[in-house]
Amino acid sequence: MIVRKPNFEFPQTILKHWLDDCAFKTHLCNSFTLLFPTGERFFVRSLSRFVPQISDEKLKREAMLFMQQETQHAVEHEKFIQNLRDQGYDVDQTLRLVEDVITRFVEKSTSPEFKLSLTAGFEHLTSLLAEIGLSEDFFENSDPVMRKLFEWHALEEIEHRAVAFDVLKSSNPSYANRVAGLLGGYLILSGLVGLVTSHLLWQDGVLLKRKTLQDAIDVFLTKNALLPKAMGIFSRYLHPKFHPLQENLDELVRLTQAQWAEVVA
Ligand SMILES: [Fe+2]
Ligand SMILES: [Fe+2]
Repeated sequence: MIVRKPNFEFPQTILKHWLDDCAFKTHLCNSFTLLFPTGERFFVRSLSRFVPQISDEKLKREAMLFMQQETQHAVEHEKFIQNLRDQGYDVDQTLRLVEDVITRFVEKSTSPEFKLSLTAGFEHLTSLLAEIGLSEDFFENSDPVMRKLFEWHALEEIEHRAVAFDVLKSSNPSYANRVAGLLGGYLILSGLVGLVTSHLLWQDGVLLKRKTLQDAIDVFLTKNALLPKAMGIFSRYLHPKFHPLQENLDELVRLTQAQWAEVVA
């Protein structure tokens, strides 16, 4: 794990539908951009509370790197949010909703142990999405800068996929707490992604178009088949002996790391 600072610049020439000239795929990714800054800062706060209690020095170092990587992700995605504003999208309503759900509701109303478990659950989901994004070549017909943004983020999600889980483990959670974190994370993520993607598609006037529905079916069920693939990876977390490093992603990480060898903080 290393912390990279790619310092992206997002030119105004990036098209509104920058992924495959497809409104659905683009806004699905844009919805993640709108969720990441609030979500990742929540992960950092949730984990940082447990850092002083970590006795394993290696895990403590990894926790610090995890927090630095997540902070960088939030910073870079936040920059592209200004492009969305400049493209004419109303994103500030969405950002307020995300802040309300994550910071004002979840963060204020749950225990530190559950927030950590939720973070570990979210991290399993982001690593799952990263694995699919990198191995499926989902970004093949993408604007090159946006492709770089998502591939860099996906690489680091895979690199640090075990950190929140190991910090959670070191706090001796019950199995029920661990599983509740994944289910809670899944409900929050899928609910917000669904709402935010729909809101962006609605602003384009294509939410209820036949092509949008077809694109959603292609992405989730047929062509990219994200849903069946995700269900397999998702369900492995439920095994009592699951550990994120059981997923052998070394080759995928090695290939992507090579592309990023020059970018170091
Ligand atoms: Fe991240
Ligand atoms: Fe992460």
